[in-house]
Amino acid sequence: MSDLEIGVLGAGVMGSGIAQSLAQAGYQVVCSDPDEGALERARRNTQAGRYGLERAVARGKLDPAEAEDAAARLRFTSQMEEVAARQLVVECVPERLDLKIRMFRDLDRLSAPDTILASNTSGFPISALAAATDRPERVIGWHWASPPQVMRLAEIVVTQETSPATRDTVCEVARRCGKTPVVVRDHPMAWGFVANRIYGAMLREAAQVVDAGIASHAEVNQLMMDAFRWPVGPFAMVEGATQGWNQDS
Ligand SMILES: NC(=O)c1ccc[n+]([C@@H]2O[C@H](COP(=O)([O-])OP(=O)(O)OC[C@H]3O[C@@H](n4cnc5c(N)ncnc54)[C@H](O)[C@@H]3O)[C@@H](O)[C@H]2O)c1
Repeated sequence: MSDLEIGVLGAGVMGSGIAQSLAQAGYQVVCSDPDEGALERARRNTQAGRYGLERAVARGKLDPAEAEDAAARLRFTSQMEEVAARQLVVECVPERLDLKIRMFRDLDRLSAPDTILASNTSGFPISALAAATDRPERVIGWHWASPPQVMRLAEIVVTQETSPATRDTVCEVARRCGKTPVVVRDHPMAWGFVANRIYGAMLREAAQVVDAGIASHAEVNQLMMDAFRWPVGPFAMVEGATQGWNQDS
């Protein structure tokens, strides 16, 4: 299935890392963004950033020929049409439901009828995106974690209409990227699927501890790392997710 051609919509923190992961897994990938600055950062980060191909070679995770091949399979463009022309599209635009619905409407219009449309939304109902298309059976959630090149999360979100073939294709691509797909059910009334709902509950409690003057942000971070061997504490996790874990080289 590595002859599947994949498009990634949005070249920000997630889109660029997802595009790189897919190229490393052997897929031909094109990633679009209307912002030239974002495209420039994406090209730089996927090549020479903290999780880019050059560092992967330097750390012995990738041999130089593999990195060169992955770079050759990865292309960035300002043209959304090039992404829509692929057989699988992973949408990674900012977390705004109105924007994502518009993107799904546009992708549905521009793509071939059998193209699978996946969203990396952090938690909007996939059924709301599917309803913007005439192909709800080919719409699915594929939630990655940051940095996508490293984290194994593949939270695969199916609606009542997502077809088994769509689910199986996306799970197979995720496995080829070295991820661990877990299929969960969409919930039209709740934001966050599973991982972010549980993470959100923990974060609310952490904020209440700070508000009550029991401990500082830094102390909460330290305690949670020491107690549960988390790589960073809850507040540091939010900073990393939004700022991209110091991606720039
Ligand atoms: N950052 C995280 O830790 C994380 C983790 C999992 C999921 N997500 C989700 O991934 C999605 C993207 O998040 P991000 O952190 O990469 O955001 P980001 O702001 O870094 O990147 C979004 C990119 O989308 C681009 N964009 C805007 N309109 C577009 C359009 N019409 N076509 C193509 N590109 C367009 C922007 O220019 C920007 O470069 C969001 O839904 C977010 O909730 C984020």
